Amino acid sequence: MTPFQLLSFLIFTLSTYSSVNAQPNIICNSAKFQLMGTNMNSLPFCDQGLSYHVRAKDLVDRMTLQEKVAQLGDQAVGVERLNLPGYQWWSEALHGVSDVGHGTHFDNNITAATSFPTVILSTASFNETLWKTIGEAVSNEARAMHNLGLAGLTFWSPNINVARDPRWGRILETPGEDPFVVGRYATNYVRGLQDVKGYLKTKDPNSRPLKVGACCKHFAAYDVDNWKGIDRYHFDARVTERDMVETFLLPFEMCVKEGDVASVMCSYNRINGIPTCADPKLLNQTIRERWNLHGYIAADCDSIEVMIHGHKYHNDTPEEAVAQTLKAGLDLDCGSYYSDYATAAVKEGLVKEEEIDHSLHNLYIVLMRLGWFDGTPGGAFTGLGKNDICSPQNLELSADAARQGIVLLKNNNTLPLSFGSGDQKSTFAVVGPHANATIAMIGNYALQSGIACHYSTPLDEISAYGNVKYEPGCSNVKCENGSGVPIAVQTAQGADATFVFVGLDLSVEAESLDRIELKFPGWQEALITELAYAPNVGPIIVVIFSAGGIDISTIKNHPRVSAIIWAGYPGAEGGRAIADIIFGNYNPAGRLPITWYPADYVNKLPMTSMQLRPNPDLNYPGRTYKFYNGSTVYPFGYGLSYTNFTYTIQYAPTLVTIDLAKLQKCKQIELLNGVNLDCPAVLVEDSKCREIVKIVVRVRNTGQRDGAHVVLLYSVPPSNIAGTPIKRLVAFRRVFLRVGEVKTLSFKLNACKSFSIIADDAYELLPTGEHSVVIGNGADAVSTKISMSFQFQ
Ligand SMILES: *[C@@H]1O[C@H](CO)[C@@H](O)[C@H](O)[C@H]1NC(C)=O
Ligand SMILES: *[C@@H]1O[C@H](CO)[C@@H](O)[C@H](O)[C@H]1NC(C)=O
Ligand SMILES: *[C@@H]1O[C@H](CO)[C@@H](O)[C@H](O)[C@H]1NC(C)=O
Ligand SMILES: *[C@@H]1O[C@H](CO)[C@@H](O)[C@H](O)[C@H]1NC(C)=O
Ligand SMILES: *[C@@H]1O[C@H](CO)[C@@H](O)[C@H](O)[C@H]1NC(C)=O
Ligand SMILES: *[C@@H]1O[C@H](CO)[C@@H](O)[C@H](O)[C@H]1NC(C)=O
Ligand SMILES: *[C@@H]1O[C@H](CO)[C@@H](O)[C@H](O)[C@H]1NC(C)=O
Ligand SMILES: *[C@@H]1O[C@H](CO)[C@@H](O)[C@H](O)[C@H]1NC(C)=O
Repeated sequence: MTPFQLLSFLIFTLSTYSSVNAQPNIICNSAKFQLMGTNMNSLPFCDQGLSYHVRAKDLVDRMTLQEKVAQLGDQAVGVERLNLPGYQWWSEALHGVSDVGHGTHFDNNITAATSFPTVILSTASFNETLWKTIGEAVSNEARAMHNLGLAGLTFWSPNINVARDPRWGRILETPGEDPFVVGRYATNYVRGLQDVKGYLKTKDPNSRPLKVGACCKHFAAYDVDNWKGIDRYHFDARVTERDMVETFLLPFEMCVKEGDVASVMCSYNRINGIPTCADPKLLNQTIRERWNLHGYIAADCDSIEVMIHGHKYHNDTPEEAVAQTLKAGLDLDCGSYYSDYATAAVKEGLVKEEEIDHSLHNLYIVLMRLGWFDGTPGGAFTGLGKNDICSPQNLELSADAARQGIVLLKNNNTLPLSFGSGDQKSTFAVVGPHANATIAMIGNYALQSGIACHYSTPLDEISAYGNVKYEPGCSNVKCENGSGVPIAVQTAQGADATFVFVGLDLSVEAESLDRIELKFPGWQEALITELAYAPNVGPIIVVIFSAGGIDISTIKNHPRVSAIIWAGYPGAEGGRAIADIIFGNYNPAGRLPITWYPADYVNKLPMTSMQLRPNPDLNYPGRTYKFYNGSTVYPFGYGLSYTNFTYTIQYAPTLVTIDLAKLQKCKQIELLNGVNLDCPAVLVEDSKCREIVKIVVRVRNTGQRDGAHVVLLYSVPPSNIAGTPIKRLVAFRRVFLRVGEVKTLSFKLNACKSFSIIADDAYELLPTGEHSVVIGNGADAVSTKISMSFQFQ
C-alpha cells in the first residue's frame, strides 16, 4: 500500500463505519471513489440532483461498446474503472425467497426463507389484502437477505400466465384460469413486493423508489411446457388476436398499468410464428409504448439460444438473433448471447449501439430506484436481518394464507370434527402418500438446496388431536402398484376417523412436465375406495394436494367418503392449516380458481389448441368457466363453508344510459335474433366511460358459525350476441361475518370495463341491450338485469 492508498483506506473505513445511516455497499460512496483517486462530485451519474435518466445516460456514455455489452446479461460483470460492480439480475420469489437463479443463495446461517403456499392456493383465498401482505413479507425477507449479501434486488416473480388448460404443469405457480383474477393477483403481489411506503406517487414514475423489483412473466400465451413431446422451446402458439387481448395479454396489461411492475419477461414460445422475445409489436409497441412500462424487459433464461436452436427462427446467426431481440425491445438477456454476440452485431451493422444504450438506461434506472447507487430513502430496509427471515410472524402468515385458501369440496355432515376434547384420546388413521408430506407442500421455485426453516406436516399436526396410526399405502404419489393398500386398510380399522392424503406432486405436474390425464395417479383412487368399503374405519376425510384439477367424481359421489378438502400445495406450514380446518379452528372459505373438468375433457381437444372458445367444427369444447359449458367435476369459484350465506341485491340500476360524443361512430355487431339496431355497440377506446354502475349487495351469515365468505360478481353480456363469454368475473371481495351478521357491500363498476365484450376483430366494444349481473355461484346465486342504452350528446 502506498501512503496515499493507506490514507484513502483509513478515510474509507472511517467514513463507512462512522455515519449512522451508512449504506456502505452503495456505488455512489465518495470514499470508494477517493480510493480510486476520483472525486465523486465530478461524476454526474452519482449526482443525486440529476434525474435518473440523465445519470444513467452519463454512466452508459462513459462505457466502451465492449463494456456496455458485458452488462447486458443477467450476470452483469460491472466496470471496474468506473467503480461499477457486477450485478446478478436473476433471483426468484414466487411464494417466498427462493435460491433458484444466480442472485440468491442460502448458507449455513440462513438455510431458507419462509415458504408461503403455492400461488394457486393463495389465489383461492380471493383476498387481495392477503396477496399484498404476502408480497410485503417476502420482500422483507428479500431485503434482509440482500443486507446479508445473500440476495439481489430483482426478483423474477410472479408467474401470471393464465391456466388455460388443466393439463399444464405449471398451474401451481399461477393465479388460475381467470384473466381478471390473475391480473388482480399480479397487481397486489407486485405492489407488496415493490412499494416503498410514503413513496407511492412520484412526479416521474421512473424515479419511484422500489423495495425490490418484481417481474411479470412469461409474456405471452405461454402455457404449454411439455405435452406429448411438444415442448415450450419449439411450440408455436397459434393465437387469435381476440384471445390475445381478452385472455393472454390482460393480466400483463394490469400488472404494468395497475401494478407498475419494474420488469416483464418474454417467454420461450412463438406466437403465430414469431418468438415473443423478437417481436417488436409485443415488446416495444405493446409493453413499452402502449402500456408505458417503467422498467426493463428481460428474456426467459436462454430464450435467444432457444430462438436459434429450438425455433430455428429465420435460420438466424447468433448476431442476427441478438440484433432482432434488441430491436424488438428486449433489454436484458438471461444467458450469454447478448454478452457474446452484441458487439459483433453492432460491428456488422445489424443493430445500432444506440439500442444497447436504451436498454442499459432502462436497466440502470431500475437499479437506481432500488437504491443500488445511492441507498434507500431514509435508509429504509437497512435494519432488516436474520431475525426477519423465517420470523414467527411470517410463518404464521404462511399458515394463515393456507387456511384462507383451502377449499372444502365435500362435507357430508362430518366436518369439523369434534374429537380430542374428552379425556379419552381418539385414534386417527393417517394414510396416503402425502400423509407425512414436507417438500411436496412447497412445490417448485422454493428450495434448491438448504433446509426449510420449518415444516408443519399433516401427520404431526393431526397427532396433536389424538393418537395416530400412520401408513402411507403407496410409496409415492405415482402409487404404481396396490401392494400397500391392504396394510393401509388394516391400519385404519378401529380408527375414530381416517384421513387420506392423496394427490399430485412435481413428479406429475411441473415445469417441463404437463399432464396427460386428469385422474388420480396409479392406485390412489383404489386406496380411497378400499378404505371406504372397509368396516370400522370411522368417517373418511380425503385431503388432496394438487394444482390442476383431478376428476374425483368417484369419491365425490361415494357415500362413505365423508369429506374432501383441496389444499393446493399449502407451503411449509400446510399441516397445521389443514388440521385447523378439520378440527374447526378455522371455517374454510377458499374457492377454486380453476375449473375441475371430467377426465374425458382431455380426449376432446389437444392441449396445443390455444382457443378459449368452443370450436364446433372440430367438436372442441371451450376452456375455462367463461367458455366451457359442459359438465364439470367442480366449477370455477366452487367452495363450501361450515356455515351458510345468503345474498340480497339491495340496489342495482335497471337502466344505464351511456353518453356518447356527438359524432361517435357505432360498431356493427351481428345479432343472433336477426334484429338490426342503428347502434348496437360502440368502441370502448372512443368513449369517455364515465358511467359507474353501482351494485349494492347484502350478505348474511345464516348458519351456526362465524366465517369468511367470498362474494363473486359476474357480468353476463346480452344473450343475442354470438361468441361472448358465458359470464365474466368483474369484481370479488372476501368478507368476514359472525353468526347472524349482515354486511352491505357496494361495488362500483365502470360500465365500459365491466360490461364490454371483445369482438372477433379484437376491438373492445360496449354493446347495448340487456346485460345482467350475477352474484355468487350455482344455486345460491342472485342476479339482476341491467339494460344498457346510448345517448348522443
Ligand atoms: C449469522 O448471521 C448473523 C447476521 O449476519 C451473524 O450475526 C451471525 O454471527 C451469523 N452466525 C453464524 C454462525 O455465521
Ligand atoms: C420503439 O418504438 C418507438 C416508436 O414506436 C421507436 O421510436 C423506438 O425506437 C422503438 N424502440 C426500439 C428499441 O425499437
Ligand atoms: C416423516 O417425514 C420426516 C421427514 O422426511 C421423517 O423424518 C419422519 O421419519 C417421517 N415420519 C414417519 C412416521 O415416517
Ligand atoms: C410395488 O411397489 C413397491 C414399492 O415401490 C415395490 O417394492 C414392489 O416391488 C412393487 N411390487 C410389484 C408387484 O411391482
Ligand atoms: C352422505 O351420507 C349419507 C348417510 O351416510 C349417505 O346416505 C349419502 O349417500 C352420502 N352422500 C354422499 C354424496 O356421499
Ligand atoms: C353448450 O354449447 C353447445 C354448442 O354451442 C350448445 O349446443 C349447448 O346447448 C350448450 N349447452 C348448454 C348447457 O348451454
Ligand atoms: C346450508 O343450507 C343448506 C340448504 O338450505 C342445508 O342443507 C345445509 O345443511 C346448510 N349448511 C349449513 C352448514 O348450515
Ligand atoms: C384477508 O387477509 C388479511 C391479511 O392476511 C387478513 O387480515 C384478513 O382477515 C383476510 N380477510 C378475510 C375476510 O378473511
